[in-house]
Order: sequence, then C-alpha cells, then structure tokens
Amino acid sequence: MTTFGTPLAPHATKVMLLGSGELGKEVLIALQRLGVETIAVDRYENAPGHQVAHRAHTIAMSDPAQLKALVEQEQPGWVVPEIEAIATPMLEELEAAGVVRVVPTARAARLTMDREGIRRLAAETLGVPTSPYRFCDSLAQLQAAIDGHDGQPAIGYPCVVKPVMSSSGKGQSKIDGPQDVAAAWDTAMAGGRVNHGRVIVEGFIDFDYEITLLTVRARGADGQIHTHFCAPVGHLQKSGDYVESWQPQPMAPVALERAQAMALAVTQNLGMDRDGQPAGLGLYGVELFVRGDEVWFSEVSPRPHDTGLVTLATQWQSEFELHARAILGLPVDTSLRNPGASAVIYGGVEGEDMVFDGVAEALAVPGTDLRLFGKPESFAKRRMGVALARHDDIALARERARLAAGKVKPRLA
Ligand SMILES: Nc1ncnc2c1ncn2[C@@H]1O[C@H](COP(=O)(O)OP(=O)(O)OP(=O)(O)O)[C@@H](O)[C@H]1O
Ligand SMILES: [Mg+2]
Repeated sequence: MTTFGTPLAPHATKVMLLGSGELGKEVLIALQRLGVETIAVDRYENAPGHQVAHRAHTIAMSDPAQLKALVEQEQPGWVVPEIEAIATPMLEELEAAGVVRVVPTARAARLTMDREGIRRLAAETLGVPTSPYRFCDSLAQLQAAIDGHDGQPAIGYPCVVKPVMSSSGKGQSKIDGPQDVAAAWDTAMAGGRVNHGRVIVEGFIDFDYEITLLTVRARGADGQIHTHFCAPVGHLQKSGDYVESWQPQPMAPVALERAQAMALAVTQNLGMDRDGQPAGLGLYGVELFVRGDEVWFSEVSPRPHDTGLVTLATQWQSEFELHARAILGLPVDTSLRNPGASAVIYGGVEGEDMVFDGVAEALAVPGTDLRLFGKPESFAKRRMGVALARHDDIALARERARLAAGKVKPRLA
C-alpha cells in the first residue's frame, strides 16, 4: 500500500530533483499535484524547476561532497536525476547505505552518464543491434578505427564522432571523408563535458526515421513490475539537438515489435538493483533508428526525454506524469489521447530579462498550446520554450506546431 504524507509536515512524501530544467519542472508539477513535497536542485539560480518547488537549492551536483551534504540535510525519500552530469558514484554510495532511493537506480544513472557504459551494456552484454563503434583517446586512434588499422573492422565513411561525455549534440560531428577527421576530433575536444579526451566513433546509420520509445516500468496491482510502452515519438534533429517531435510515428509492425523488444531488454537490465533484483521504477526514453524493418539502438535516458515534451499534448498522462506516478509505485496509463506535435522555441539572442512577443498570436493557431520555461538567461541556441499542437493528421499537427513556435519572438527587454 502506498501512503502519502502532507507536504511540509513531518510525514511528508519528499522527492528531490537533481537538475531542474524544463523537463524537471514538469516532473515537479506532476509531483506537486499528488501532494508530494518537492525539492529542486540545479547548478544555477532560478532554474525553471526552482520556480515551482517547495524548496530550491543551487549546488555543483558533480561535487560528491556538496551532493551528499544536501541529501543528508533534506532527507528526501527519492532522488530523481534529470541530467547526466552528477556525481553518480556518490548516489550509488547513498543508495547502498539505504539513505535514499535513486530513480530509476543509481546504477542506471552511472551507466547512462557516459556513452561508453550504456553502449557496451546494450551491444556487448545484451547483444542489441547498434551502429558499429569504437572508443578512441587520440586523433591517431580515431583515424586507425575509421581505416580499420587497429586490427578491427573499419568503421569507414561516413561516420559520427561524439565526446563520451556530452549531450544535446555538443561536440558532435559527421565525418564524410579523410579531410574531416582532424576537425571532428577538435570539435569533440572542445565540446565534451569533462575534458578527458575520449570519443566514440560510430558508423553512420542511413535511417528512414528515428524515434524515442518512451518505456515505463511501473508496479501493477499484483505488486510486480510491468513494462508499458507509449506510442512511438518521431523526431527531427538539427546539429544533434531536437527541433520537432510528433506522436505517433507510424511504424511497420515488425519494426515496432523489434523496437519494443530492444527497449524491454535495455530497461530491464538498467532497472536491476545492485543485487540483480527487479527495481528501477520510472520512465525511460529509448532512442532508436529505423530503416524499413531494421532497428538500431542508439542511446537511452533513464528519465523523461526532451522529444517527449509532445506527450503534454498527446497522452492522457504525459511522460512527466508517468515518471512521477511510476516512481511512487502508482499505476500508469500510457495510452494516446490524440496525435500531435511539438516544435522548439530557441532564444535567438543572448542575455537576461527576456521578453516574448507574439504569445497570443501563437495560441490563436487552432489546437495549440505553449510552454515558456522561464529560464533566467537566453542563448541563441538555448531551448526557451516549446509549442504543442494536436491534429489527427500528423503533417498538419507538425505544421501548426511550427507555425505557433514561429510566432513567439524572444527578444531582450
Ligand atoms: N550513428 C549515427 N548515425 C546516424 N545518425 C546519428 C548517429 N548518431 C547520432 N546521430 C544523429 O545525431 C542525433 C544526436 O545523437 P545522440 O543522441 O547520440 O547525441 P546526444 O548529444 O546524446 O543528443 P541528445 O542529448 O539530444 O539525445 C541523433 O538523434 C541522430 O539524429
Ligand atoms: Mg540522443
């Protein structure tokens, strides 16, 4: 039985978000609606989630001492990582000591923190199909991997180079021929989160489309953990960052079956606790490439996914509500309410005290909705909001989302 406390009272049900951007903000709102006491943590003041939680903290989450001190001070029942750059060994320590539950598990947070952990788990341990890949620590190693001069099959051209520690396409580039290799190495060195100079090089997959398969591990009425799938989310990426998403993405039945089998294998493994027991409640965003009936696993977020913002307009329970409910041991409903789409609103300009013109005009587009994240500072390529649209015809939903997003004009006050 799940018993819920009263926020700000001695028996409150307390959840701490590590990372409080636009995705964390929606998870916090979902938790608030269930009467949970919420604690928002980020590395800068007035982050989107800070603005909707009971308490807000600003710390360096990659610093194990600061992280430990805050968890011990706040004593949340659950810690929910929203970002990758966290001192995950400290989370494993706190989880092992029984101080806190980490969502979905501390092990999943550690394995998905860099590209190597999750890629080796999926491809080498689980045998899930992925692009051919190699890890390299120098330009010379990178060139050797592409040419097959390291005693392994050549990755060849075209290929993609990414720092092992990065997200949102930072430091990532496509290599079309020998002339691009050195520049790709330099881009990766400049764009990695931690400058330890390691990259993954992947064979380029010429996919028809790519999806995020939102996958939920939730407790059923029988007390067991069950896996639920949302309808596939299709998306469009530019420079490694998502610009549009839609749901459902039509798929050949065989491809959908394969996608679900891969998502099941990966989330079931990530969802195991230290003793190999089923745990790991929550929502996962499984990124897959599809060509015809062929499916390749790319990566997974053990948390809501940016492309899943579309579910705010398309599902009875958004990916954020699903995450909140699953974490707390509640039943979930992943069914689609209506097809729809999302389009990202970028800052365009750099600075603080942004104003947004055209909000009314955007919302005058039929069947649309809007989220402005409330970020205190804008950058040209920073995601400041998202337009949402519903329409039974996906092409029209995408058009309306793009139209609405385009009407919102951020500028400096
Ligand atoms: N091997 C590949 N072949 C073809 N396209 C690729 C490949 N790897 C990445 N891409 C393209 O680049 C996008 C971003 O790659 P990836 O998801 O690995 O990076 P990321 O920095 O983790 O992005 P995010 O954090 O936004 O998910 C993919 O969604 C896909 O469109
Ligand atoms: Mg990705």
